[in-house]
Amino acid sequence: MPSLRKQLSQAFQTAFIQAGLDPKYGDVSVSDRPDLAQFQCNGALAAAKAQKKNPREVAQKILDTVELCKDRFQFSLAGPGFINIVLTDDELAQRTQEQAQDKRRMGCDVQPAKKIVIDFGGPNVAKTMHVGHLRSSIIGDSLQRICRWMLDDENNSKQLVIGDNHLGDWGSPMGMLICELKRRHPNLPYFDPAKTGPYPTESPVTMTDLEEMYPLAAAKFKADENEKADVLRATDELQKGRPGYLALWKHFVSVTRTDLERDFGSLGIQFDHWLGESFYEALMPKMIESLKKQGMTEMSEGALIIPLATTEEPELPPLILEKSGGGYLYHTSDMATVEYRVNHFKAELILYVIDKRQSLHLKQVFMASRKTGLAKNAEMIHTAFGTMNGTDGKPFRTRAGGVLKLKDLIQMVTDEAKKRLTEMDKIGEYSEREVDEISKQVGIATLKYADLKNNRTSDYVFDLAQFSQFEGNTGPYLQYAVVRIQSLINKANFIGSGSIQPPQTASERTLMLTLLRLPDVIQRAYELYEPHHLCDYGFTLSQAFNSFYNECHIISEQDPDRKASLLRLCAQTRNQLILVLRLLGIEVPEKM
Ligand code: ARG
Repeated sequence: MPSLRKQLSQAFQTAFIQAGLDPKYGDVSVSDRPDLAQFQCNGALAAAKAQKKNPREVAQKILDTVELCKDRFQFSLAGPGFINIVLTDDELAQRTQEQAQDKRRMGCDVQPAKKIVIDFGGPNVAKTMHVGHLRSSIIGDSLQRICRWMLDDENNSKQLVIGDNHLGDWGSPMGMLICELKRRHPNLPYFDPAKTGPYPTESPVTMTDLEEMYPLAAAKFKADENEKADVLRATDELQKGRPGYLALWKHFVSVTRTDLERDFGSLGIQFDHWLGESFYEALMPKMIESLKKQGMTEMSEGALIIPLATTEEPELPPLILEKSGGGYLYHTSDMATVEYRVNHFKAELILYVIDKRQSLHLKQVFMASRKTGLAKNAEMIHTAFGTMNGTDGKPFRTRAGGVLKLKDLIQMVTDEAKKRLTEMDKIGEYSEREVDEISKQVGIATLKYADLKNNRTSDYVFDLAQFSQFEGNTGPYLQYAVVRIQSLINKANFIGSGSIQPPQTASERTLMLTLLRLPDVIQRAYELYEPHHLCDYGFTLSQAFNSFYNECHIISEQDPDRKASLLRLCAQTRNQLILVLRLLGIEVPEKM
């Protein structure tokens, strides 16, 4: 069933059509003056202007014809032609009750099936995962959860939504690591050109080794021409399949992956696939051949390119498929990735949850894959995000100026949560294990919520002290709201029976209206790929609940039916908050 706001819009749109006007004017929105109305339809003004008519007359005509039961809704005409809409209390209670009974979908419609691939995470082998990858992971995970919920694909039975971690596991960084290791341990069997295997099953390096080796190797690569030539040679040999290098590379990837899986695991983030850049190596020659055959490519300064400049954008650089002297690039693997996702996964939509600084790269890939027909009819969207900065306004780093490791960041937020919980004297009766578990859940909520609550394209300042507060628009605040409602329900021994009665107070009315907004909010987050609408909503809902809780004396209510009704509202608020948090990837502790 469409949401309340949509049903109102549909009725008004029909009335506009009947009046010979464009239905677009019939849109109904939540009123920005809740003191005057709950919903409003302002389209009569613009419609009248377009037709040079009197707006109040147009609005009146719409009101006369709109097919909405006047026993359930009250309408009024205000100002120059605004239509105000208010639900009767009976209607409001009934709708809230219906939504509460819809335990599975909570009033949300299932969207038409669509194959969606979400490209998120995308860290690189050996390099420490930085905050950009962290944001991609947190936002991507939430989008994955929202899409799964909207398509009712949560148990993966249809597998409409596919999460793919496009690991950076190929190219010159791999050559850098090979050369660096060779310098340190030239006698390892991987470097003996005469040997073709078998090679040791145990990795010669740990993650700590890799993290220490990579920045040194990258610096040498930049500074020294001979070094650079060696690295490029090693990269080329690896990509051509030299057995020792391949064996070594597999160790690099597997050591990194084990480490990453632990990190993602502690964040509660999962991927269906880890098809890294290397996976596409084998697919690139065929793709390039076919593009050449179709006449899509050109040679330019020794490189094989797809020109992209248009009359509107004459400066747009071409996509480079093969650099001069041979060798594939980031562009090439992303083109092959599009082809694979479209052909193998039958993707109809591909979301790229990647830093906004890669927007030119993605624009080129999107244009080239559309122009060449590689993308077929798939829609591709760069769901870009801004930078997470420190309180100094620069990209978030450690105190010493280094890249902060995810493990350390998780530790930091967990410690902060523990400190807060201790200060608030909340954890006196809990065992040490419980305290650790709660602190971790609260710490991760701090981190994820901070990342999700702003419009994803804006940069934001990660202010740990502020974001771990239990008051204000924070993750811990919403978790705490759920825990408090739960303990209220427990205290009242509420078993979930009884029906929701018409509201008797303003705060009850507002709470019901806020509860009824849920389907619209999730829909919006889904259509715009913007999780922050869920954060705004969760915060608004908890505030509406607080006013309700302060105004209505739930526990001491004497009328048993009314008490049950109030408790049902509590339970529904809790259920909706849990859903909102779940879609953000945030767990709720049993106690706090
Ligand atoms: N590994 C890349 C980086 O660290 C991100 C990969 C994003 N996905 C993609 N299809 N390009 O910048």
